[in-house]
Amino acid sequence: MAGFLDDIEPLKQAALEELNAAPDGAALEQTKGAWIGPNGKFTALMKQLSTLTKEEKPAAGKLVNAAKVELEAALGARREALELAAALPTRPTDFTLPGRRRALGKLHPLTQVTEDIVRAFRKIGFAVADGPEIEDEYHCFDALNTPADHPARDAQDTFYLSSNGPDHSSLPLGEVGGTRVRQPRLLRTHTSSVQIRVMKSQPPPVRIIVPGRVYRRDNADATHNPTFHQIEGLYVDQGVTVGDLKGTVEFVFQELMGRDVKIRFRPHYFSYTEPSYEIDFTNALVKKMGKDWLEIAGCGMVHPQVFENVGYDPAVWTGWAFGFGIERIAMLRYGINDIRLFYENDVRFLRNF
Ligand code: DAH
Repeated sequence: MAGFLDDIEPLKQAALEELNAAPDGAALEQTKGAWIGPNGKFTALMKQLSTLTKEEKPAAGKLVNAAKVELEAALGARREALELAAALPTRPTDFTLPGRRRALGKLHPLTQVTEDIVRAFRKIGFAVADGPEIEDEYHCFDALNTPADHPARDAQDTFYLSSNGPDHSSLPLGEVGGTRVRQPRLLRTHTSSVQIRVMKSQPPPVRIIVPGRVYRRDNADATHNPTFHQIEGLYVDQGVTVGDLKGTVEFVFQELMGRDVKIRFRPHYFSYTEPSYEIDFTNALVKKMGKDWLEIAGCGMVHPQVFENVGYDPAVWTGWAFGFGIERIAMLRYGINDIRLFYENDVRFLRNF
């Protein structure tokens, strides 16, 4: 018994010395194993406890355990110290240097403008609707009352998915004037196609806007690009008037561009509205450009034939629709003079918004 008790202290001291001298994490773990691992020297001492008598055991056990607790605490402290040391810079560091700034991305200016427009329309109860960019002639043209010989349908202006004329047998079935016919597919030239999809999928009333990408066979220049973005609006209810349309457009543009915005409607022609208008826009910025008005959108009262096409009763329902280009608005808002800048993804440009 005396020998056993006498062994504890020197063994513990030796273990502590070795633990505290371990130069790194790996060495420390090895030292740990050598002392308090299953085959460790200190563990061996503990195993001898069982050779003591019943009377000797409690006092001896207490001492051995206290020593073990001390060893474990020393092990933890050394481990922490070594980890901290490993984390310290190996070369001299100037802690007074400014921090490294992490560059934050931001939304593309077109996305920012789109979100602002959507926010303005949400305030007055419009929901956002969506439709496919690959369309068929029915939704893009026929249902919108656009005749087959209309120039917009020309292969010179529209991207058809089959370049050497459609092979009608393999085309999807669509509907023209109530009959099922094979439909050539194309990249939508405007978001107006979504008007048809929404009206066909739900009964009136309708109050939607449709932001989305559209495609036209234009050569890129400062004001044109083969892909650009539009926002379509459609409002169908009973007793809807041009006054509602004008008030809505005015509200949204004032939200977007400031209180000094003025709106003007000019008679125009679209096959899916009657009467139809072009919307002109002016504010201080437009004046500064040396202009009185800038054409910004097309709109009108939904044509009764369009209502017929989607199964709404034109004797009951009235509505208006509009469509405008998002790039145009963004260019006005930020004073950008070349539409192509939006698509180049040059951060020197994008950083400005
Ligand atoms: N779709 C027309 C365009 O792309 C814009 C437009 C005009 C949309 C009149 C409409 C509308 O909804 O009623 O130029």
